[in-house]
Amino acid sequence: MKIDLLLGLQWGDEGKGKIVDVLTKNYDIIARFQGGPNAGHTLIFDGKKHVLHTIPSGIFHKTAMNVVGNGVVIDPVIFKKELENLDVHNIDYTSKLLISRKAHLILPTHRLLDAASETSKGKAKIGSTLKGIGPTYMDKTGRNGMRVGDLELDNWKEKYEALTKKHIKMLHFFDVQIEYNLEELEAEFCKGIDKLRQLQFIDSEEYLNNAIKNNKTILAEGAQGSLLDIDFGTYPFVTSSNTTAAGACTGLGVAPNKIGDVFGIFKAYTTRVGSGPFPTELFDKDGETMAKVGHEFGATTGRARRCGWLDLVALKYAIQVNGVTQLMMMKGDVLSGFDTLKIATSYNYKGKEITHLPYNIEPENVSVNYTEFKGWQADLTKMTHKDQLPKNLLEYVAFIEKETEVPIKIVSVGPDRLQTIDR
Ligand code: GDP
Ligand code: IMO
Ligand code: MG
Repeated sequence: MKIDLLLGLQWGDEGKGKIVDVLTKNYDIIARFQGGPNAGHTLIFDGKKHVLHTIPSGIFHKTAMNVVGNGVVIDPVIFKKELENLDVHNIDYTSKLLISRKAHLILPTHRLLDAASETSKGKAKIGSTLKGIGPTYMDKTGRNGMRVGDLELDNWKEKYEALTKKHIKMLHFFDVQIEYNLEELEAEFCKGIDKLRQLQFIDSEEYLNNAIKNNKTILAEGAQGSLLDIDFGTYPFVTSSNTTAAGACTGLGVAPNKIGDVFGIFKAYTTRVGSGPFPTELFDKDGETMAKVGHEFGATTGRARRCGWLDLVALKYAIQVNGVTQLMMMKGDVLSGFDTLKIATSYNYKGKEITHLPYNIEPENVSVNYTEFKGWQADLTKMTHKDQLPKNLLEYVAFIEKETEVPIKIVSVGPDRLQTIDR
């Protein structure tokens, strides 16, 4: 059996959590492959809302196993809170949640370094979620990091102390001073480690490859989105991991020839939280309507998300980099009521009209050409079947399919598990 991937094609928050939850019934294993508590994946079912940060979005299903892969970075403090939220719902994570020994740990001082780095950047800040993601991946590639498997060694505390000491020295290099109480942070960290130890630590690449051999079905869950990818995103305004399909191979230890379907998920418009260029961003009433109707506030930080029209130039780029085989369009319901909708179909760049994503997409380098569509007025949120979808929405969908040459298999019409239309 091959492993399917589900990835965000924009700047994150496309609705990955919702769709992983919807698809989990078809899979034996759900595996997260990158990112960490910078992610916020929202699931709504039975009238309740759940937000997951590090834990895979299959956790609420009775039978599926959930794996936190080697490419993920784990903050034991946040992880403990996530587990405690599951305790409230009697979710048996000790048997259903497995953690890769090779996943790296976010130390309290990684968070401090993140804060110092961002503050010292001033106006040029990335707009990080400040969860310590950048510094932890830097320690990973710098070959200094601490991994989950280290917790099984007798000297893990020594390793922790040596790395913390180094971080404290590094904090002095910044021209801003961050206030902290190390004793409190460490006490919290140790409690987090104790909770983490309730889970099974595994060699996840072995586990997943055996599962593939034994014909188990696996869905890999991405975090963030392709435009936040460390290589292919809008660098430096990106996260510190490969959010694209290749990240699933390195983040789980699964070979490229074992990848099956690649589900690419996108909003019917575009949002971005944090700094960085966003060619189709709106600063008018239309943008405000998207933000208001779409409740566009970050699931992790609560920050307002910037909103704009769908960008087909960027979407095609993401589809290409990921090898997307099926698309899923989210939040179509949010666009109900607009008389006219726009989709960015080309950019003007260095005196030429182009349809690929260029190196520089800042406002001084690109302007956007749009194709207009008639909007739809109907409320989609009660619709359950594709035949109910309005004609103008189907035209919007058909245009995207024609341009991207990839079928849109799911149209999501609300945040609830049930508000999902198969095509
Ligand atoms: P993720 O990070 O990709 O999992 O997405 P988030 O959970 O951060 O953000 C998506 C937001 O949109 C959440 O609040 C979801 O509950 C909500 N949502 C998902 N799909 C839909 C949809 O089709 N319509 C509406 N109105 N909301 C949706
Ligand atoms: P999910 O998985 C949206 C953004 C941050 C910032 C940049 C770097 O919920 O889609 P970091 O904390 O990684 O140093 O932040 O990336 N960012 C996200 N934006 N959704 C996310 O995750 C994000 N994770 C990080 O806002 O601009
Ligand atoms: Mg999110």
